[in-house]
Amino acid sequence: MLEDRVTSLDRFIIEQERLYPEATGRFSNILYDIALAAKVVTREVRRAGITDILGRAGRANVYGEDVTKLDAFANNVFIHATEHSGNVCIMASEENDGCVEIPPEYPTGSYALLMDPLDGSSNIDVNVAIGTIFSFHRKISKGPRGAVEDCLQPGRRQVAAGYVVYGSSTMLVYTTGSGVHGFTLDPTLGEFILSHRNIRIPERSTYISANESNYPKWPEEVQSYVGHLRKRSYSSRYIGSLVADFHRNLLKGGFFMYPPDQKSPTGKLRLLYEAAPLAFVIEQAGGYASDGHGPILDIQPTELHQRVPLYIGSPFETREAEAWISGRKRPDAGPSSSAG
Ligand code: AHG
Ligand code: MN
Ligand code: MN
Repeated sequence: MLEDRVTSLDRFIIEQERLYPEATGRFSNILYDIALAAKVVTREVRRAGITDILGRAGRANVYGEDVTKLDAFANNVFIHATEHSGNVCIMASEENDGCVEIPPEYPTGSYALLMDPLDGSSNIDVNVAIGTIFSFHRKISKGPRGAVEDCLQPGRRQVAAGYVVYGSSTMLVYTTGSGVHGFTLDPTLGEFILSHRNIRIPERSTYISANESNYPKWPEEVQSYVGHLRKRSYSSRYIGSLVADFHRNLLKGGFFMYPPDQKSPTGKLRLLYEAAPLAFVIEQAGGYASDGHGPILDIQPTELHQRVPLYIGSPFETREAEAWISGRKRPDAGPSSSAG
């Protein structure tokens, strides 16, 4: 719609606030901070080959994985852009072993922020799309400042979630429970402009996204489901950046999976700041996200960095995969549907 071309993120947030009079505006302020941080990271990503932001930071993260300079840079940017506003009470980040507390000189607020500040690190140095994933929960702890329990909440309780994809353009996509909306950064204005109002994922997939080199290590029921999928015609697309694979599938229809394997019996991807936020987005767009047995959004987290198998995307294949992998739908049950 024409007016969308001049609907900035700020204007859209105000419009959304008017729809929900009980909205205090406190949460809206955090979205402004997230958008600012996304612009700062964009600037570094766009110049990565020129500035000294490529390569390793010379240390490992909590998983022993090499931290790249851009991981560390993005982490600092998103922490410092959100810690001062008095809206956040505590944070958890892939790049920090424990919770990130709000410095005592700043007031604390009603929301916990969980984030993967830079997703797709292996793609940074080769100019392939990368992203940031964020999730917000309401504070539930009793004390004046936040606590880890504010972070360890089921995804169903998120108040907002979304991601930034630093691709051919920078896009911010988020939901607060009233649909999924996408904003494209116009670098000539320095503004995020509404470009995708109320995104809905196609019912059935066009693309299958999986690292099929892991096939021999997948559980038999996963291998069997992949064999079932191969009888249909899908294109295979796997970028190795979850956000980029997810975003393409959201717009075009797709099924992404990162199953467990012998090396990682609970999968590779993290529940709190990868699977759960994207599960909130996908369900708001009409899709589904499963751990192979039930909804990602219903999992009660026990640790900040816990991993979870992830099957996410168009509802047809994602629900079929869950039924197949959990054993509810036996391969000999006949074709999954007339179109199957
Ligand atoms: P991160 O860079 O935040 O560690 O995430 C990387 C993840 C995810 O982006 C991607 O889907 C997956 O790792 C790719 O894993 P493989 O290289 O094992 O396929
Ligand atoms: Mn990640
Ligand atoms: Mn990351």
